[in-house]
Amino acid sequence: MDCLQVLFDHQSLRHFKDEALPQTAVENIKRAVTQTSSACFFQVCTTLRITDRELLIKIGALSGGTMKLAHAPEFWLFCLDFTKLAHAGFIQRSIPFDVFFNGINDCSMACQSALTAAEAQGLGGVAIGGFKRRISEIAQLLKLPHLTAPVLGLVLGVPDEAYREPQQKPRLPQDWLIMDNMWRDPFDEKMFAVYNQEFADYAARRVAGPSHKTWEQACSAMLAKRDATADDLVQYYRSQGFTIG
Ligand SMILES: Cc1cc2nc3c(=O)[nH]c(=O)nc-3n(C[C@H](O)[C@H](O)[C@H](O)COP(=O)(O)O)c2cc1C
Repeated sequence: MDCLQVLFDHQSLRHFKDEALPQTAVENIKRAVTQTSSACFFQVCTTLRITDRELLIKIGALSGGTMKLAHAPEFWLFCLDFTKLAHAGFIQRSIPFDVFFNGINDCSMACQSALTAAEAQGLGGVAIGGFKRRISEIAQLLKLPHLTAPVLGLVLGVPDEAYREPQQKPRLPQDWLIMDNMWRDPFDEKMFAVYNQEFADYAARRVAGPSHKTWEQACSAMLAKRDATADDLVQYYRSQGFTIG
């Protein structure tokens, strides 16, 4: 499929057929992930491709109910991994913040490469950050050692087309998201109200669980769901050797 069209057509998919991904598709996704850019070319993103049903069920249970991981064919987990640099001898027990930040960028880019490669082959998926609530238990389960840590997950599968939304999730106006040269404040009450309504109309028509929330209300509900686990997350990254704060 045309690469631009794949990007334009993106929507997150969370329901899949009970089918394995074709092997060629998996190889292509791996190739796309491997070829992704890497800050300073440190190559510090290691991707765990999790297909073992028992592991998927356990990670699903640790991640809360929303992820449907137990039913997903595959979960790809993009992890910081500085062990190779440590083996090479120029990283010791801890990773400075800027280098840690580079690694987060590598993992995010790799995840997007995988998703786009999957979508280009008629597959679908959704990025997953929700697993981080029980990050240290998940990391233990996957035997991640010191100087490694999960950053971002991706559920992949053969889409159940009955759940593809007829409309993509509306974005804020493009010139609120992309600006020429210098930053400006594009906020406008009237346009904001129009966007909120557009989002609520979309949400009401959503195949997978309609709601009547505006974007503002949806964001506020998401923020309210945050809990003390953010502190655990920082604590976990620190314990793995990453300098934060
Ligand atoms: C870093 C990141 C983490 C995400 N985590 C989750 C998640 O834990 N659960 C989920 O259902 N969707 C998750 N998503 C998907 C977003 O909800 C989705 O991209 C957004 O609502 C826009 O919808 P669309 O991708 O269908 O356009 C995540 C997306 C990103 C980029």
